[in-house]
Amino acid sequence: MTPSWAEALAGLAAREAVARAGGSEARLEEQRRAGKLTARERIEALLDRGSFVETNMLAEHQCRDFGMETRKFPGDGVVTGHGRIDGRCVCAYAEDVTVLGGSTGRVHGTKIHTLLRRARESRVPVIGLHDSGGARIQEGMDNVYGMTGVLAEFTLNSGVVPQIVGIMGTCAGGAAYSAALADFIVQVENTSQLFVTGPALADEVLGEHVTPDALGGCDMHARRSGVTHLVARDDRDCIALIRRLLTYLPQSNRQRPAAVEAGDPADRPVPELLDIVPIDPGRNYDMHAVVGAIVDGGEFFETQEGFARNMIVGFARMGGQAVGLVANNPAVGDGYMDGDAAVKAARFVRTCDAFNIPLLTLVDAPGFLPGVAQEQGGLLRHGAKLLHSWTESTVPKVSCVLRKMYGGVIPAMGVHEIGFDQVFAWPSAEMQMVRAEPAVKILCRKELAAAADSCALQLQRVREYQDLYLTPYHSASLAVVDAVIAPQDTRARIISALRLLQDKTVADRAWRKHSNLPL
Ligand code: HXC
Repeated sequence: MTPSWAEALAGLAAREAVARAGGSEARLEEQRRAGKLTARERIEALLDRGSFVETNMLAEHQCRDFGMETRKFPGDGVVTGHGRIDGRCVCAYAEDVTVLGGSTGRVHGTKIHTLLRRARESRVPVIGLHDSGGARIQEGMDNVYGMTGVLAEFTLNSGVVPQIVGIMGTCAGGAAYSAALADFIVQVENTSQLFVTGPALADEVLGEHVTPDALGGCDMHARRSGVTHLVARDDRDCIALIRRLLTYLPQSNRQRPAAVEAGDPADRPVPELLDIVPIDPGRNYDMHAVVGAIVDGGEFFETQEGFARNMIVGFARMGGQAVGLVANNPAVGDGYMDGDAAVKAARFVRTCDAFNIPLLTLVDAPGFLPGVAQEQGGLLRHGAKLLHSWTESTVPKVSCVLRKMYGGVIPAMGVHEIGFDQVFAWPSAEMQMVRAEPAVKILCRKELAAAADSCALQLQRVREYQDLYLTPYHSASLAVVDAVIAPQDTRARIISALRLLQDKTVADRAWRKHSNLPL
């Protein structure tokens, strides 16, 4: 018998209610008691009120093994759809750990990779909120379709639309890999872990007894592996960080980030820089203070803050325009660069370049860290990633040398030949291949050996070398530096350069399938 409209609508409402109940009301309540939001609550908190439009709400797995035919859940453990963040259209999904552990079977995976493709075709950002045990074990090799499809779509989206992932519970196996393919990972401390294989496998294969936190907790990924970009206190903080991060990013690689007027004059002098940065190169300072002094409203959004702390990367605005900052930090290890610092910076440079965000470097590093540990750790491989990324990038790039810029730091932090458009130096800048003392030892070895008073001669030669080479005026005379600027003019000069460069075009380059980034 044909149902009435009232019966048909009641049938739809009943099905939707089952989907909204996730694994069960009891499991959802358990999730809340653990201090977490449920998948649907996360989506609601992420998107502008009432803007979420759900897709594939009633999709179910088709697996019949391991008693699965009696364990059907409409939606299959992931809430997918689109909505708005600050009025901007985004695609979003949230995995529901109350349904089969949030595991990614064929249908669950298909829902995500269809959404990812839709985001790419529509040129809108993707936000994924992860809470999953990875590939659904009961579905066997059917996982190839679900999970590998997700991995492939993340890769195809890379550099086309921003992809941000929140890790809001345990995230294992293929689910962890899909997060690693995103542009940014925001991880919730205490309640989330991110790993390829869990503690049980570490125990079985290696006899290694390890806690989930030691294997993939926030602290480990934020400080040691560098996998996590931002650390959140809880689920709501994670969502707030994602929303804030998105303000610095455009909808896609075809746009620029929106300008935000901060009411901070572009020509504001910054005399406090003279107090922040000691002119004595032997004394250190925290580069964060310099960043805070020159950017709009002192507002800096740092990413990967706990990893490779000798290198600072993050977003700010200058004259209202988003800019990516890459800066040495003399407060950490005297600012020496190393392999981790190079990889951190390279990844950030590529992210900014993909999304049309101009780059600014603040330089003060005595060199790359020498020694066996760095060379064995692949310093050349890692340093090369950064050099490659600078030249390949086409966005406007400005560098400002505050004090030291020696040796490998010269190409790694910004000169014209590596792709920088404008290079500024403070009067305190020392720019040279090697510092004075080692240079004199190498150049004057015979002369020093023959001298009656080798110490006095060495001092004299060091002073001569310093006067000749270690001033920014040597670099300015060779046009390596475009202008030697007073520190208080730094903000005004950078903003003026960025405004000049905002419609920069780059000449065609030789055709290639893609470059071969030294991975
Ligand atoms: C199916 C899973 C699952 C999975 C968890 N569950 N992971 N079901 N497939 N991958 C289910 C559990 O059976 C359980 O169901 C519920 O989720 C909660 O799991 P618990 O183990 O009770 O929770 P917890 O103690 O919090 O531990 C969470 C966990 C653990 C650390 C994620 O479940 C775990 O180690 N799962 C396996 C992780 C893993 O090895 N994944 C890799 C898969 S391979 P009930 O009904 O009992 O509550 C992969 C490679 C992809 O991803 C390659 C591409 C094709």
